[in-house]
Amino acid sequence: MEFKRNIIITGGAGFIGSHVVRLFVNKYADYRIINLDKLTYAGNLANLKDIEDAPNYVFVKADICDFDTIMKLMADYHVDGIIHLAAESHVDRSIKDPFTFARTNVMGTLSLLQAAKLYWESLPEKYEGKRFYHISTDEVYGALELTHPEGVKSEISAHEVYGDEFFKETTKYNPHSPYSASKASSDHFVRAFHDTYGMPTVVTNCSNNYGPYQFPEKLIPLFINNIRHRKPLPVYGKGENVRDWLYVVDHARAIDVIFHEGKIADTYNIGGFNEWKNIDIIKVIIKTVDRLLGNPEGHSLELITYVTDRMGHDLRYAIDSTKLKNELGWEPSLQFEEGIEKTVRWYLDNQEWMDNVTSGDYQKYYENMYSGR
Ligand code: NAD
Ligand code: DAU
Repeated sequence: MEFKRNIIITGGAGFIGSHVVRLFVNKYADYRIINLDKLTYAGNLANLKDIEDAPNYVFVKADICDFDTIMKLMADYHVDGIIHLAAESHVDRSIKDPFTFARTNVMGTLSLLQAAKLYWESLPEKYEGKRFYHISTDEVYGALELTHPEGVKSEISAHEVYGDEFFKETTKYNPHSPYSASKASSDHFVRAFHDTYGMPTVVTNCSNNYGPYQFPEKLIPLFINNIRHRKPLPVYGKGENVRDWLYVVDHARAIDVIFHEGKIADTYNIGGFNEWKNIDIIKVIIKTVDRLLGNPEGHSLELITYVTDRMGHDLRYAIDSTKLKNELGWEPSLQFEEGIEKTVRWYLDNQEWMDNVTSGDYQKYYENMYSGR
């Protein structure tokens, strides 16, 4: 079958990538979606069980650092678009092992860029109709102050905000963790490929995502699972750090809009205007899990355990996504209350998924999936 577009989505077996792959496979039957993923500890093909047999879906197990393989895939599949999500994504791991982050996030991105450049420049039409879309994070902008530690209502946000400043697309980069430094570096490479070679690139910087299929090393799934198993809930420092939370499907929707309509060489911030202090969001999670499990209200508060703070822990992230709303009409579709209820329910209803991840059995899914074919 001839496809209208052939798009590589890197990191499609991860948390956000799996939602992006699902959205594109279901919405664009005439696009071939090539999910390119190394299947590190964070990649789980069970995240895509519902679409794995779709005729417009292909999975390729590969490392983005493997330049020769990427070159071959570009030509074999006539790739005209790349949506790049593959990365090492967990800040705590980057503090312990920064080399892996530099390798994957910096060298891996460079390898993809160079393969795309060589392939696209070899075609008669060159960069026409092509797009390299790089998914980045708000963490590259550094940290904001808590000028209103108790929170205030602001015009910019329907929700409480904790400071006067927001990250805008023009905010200077100031990464603090090895993770955010590696993402900042990869963002610079992407922009350099536009400025130097004229590659049609776009970069987006998003806030904290939450929702189904997130690896349970991250705050929300870790805490839901720990409450269920009556394990301590490790709150870093005083729990006063602020994050801006966005439901993952809304991020995938934004990626769809920006991939198709975003301006070449531009940057868009994506966020929920939904700031929460860690301790407050933790209390919402506890309340929701207790209610859904039929526990008395407040039953799991005793599991809260304050632990040593994360090194270099950024105090506050808050994204201003006004540009994306004004220029491309994107807004979050889900209120936080609805999103968190859906998320907690999903983890409680999908205990098998969680057990497979925590036991390590999920890593056998790939072998089982392909052994019979
Ligand atoms: P994740 O850790 O859940 O998934 C990462 C995926 O990349 C996994 O499937 C993994 O197997 C794959 N991968 C890792 N190294 C690879 C390599 N060398 N080659 C090929 N595949 C490789 O990550 P996530 O939370 O879904 O984040 C996806 C992207 O979005 C990342 O670039 C991250 O920086 C960015 N981001 C994440 C958030 C968030 O809240 N999670 C927010 C903003 C931006
Ligand atoms: O802001 C976007 C970023 O959000 C993404 O770029 C990253 O890939 C993603 O991992 C996420 O980074 P955070 O460090 O904000 O997410 P994490 O879930 O690790 O932590 C959220 C907050 O909760 C943070 O302030 C640290 C705190 N925390 C986290 C864990 C895992 C705890 O207090 N205890 C914990 O056990």
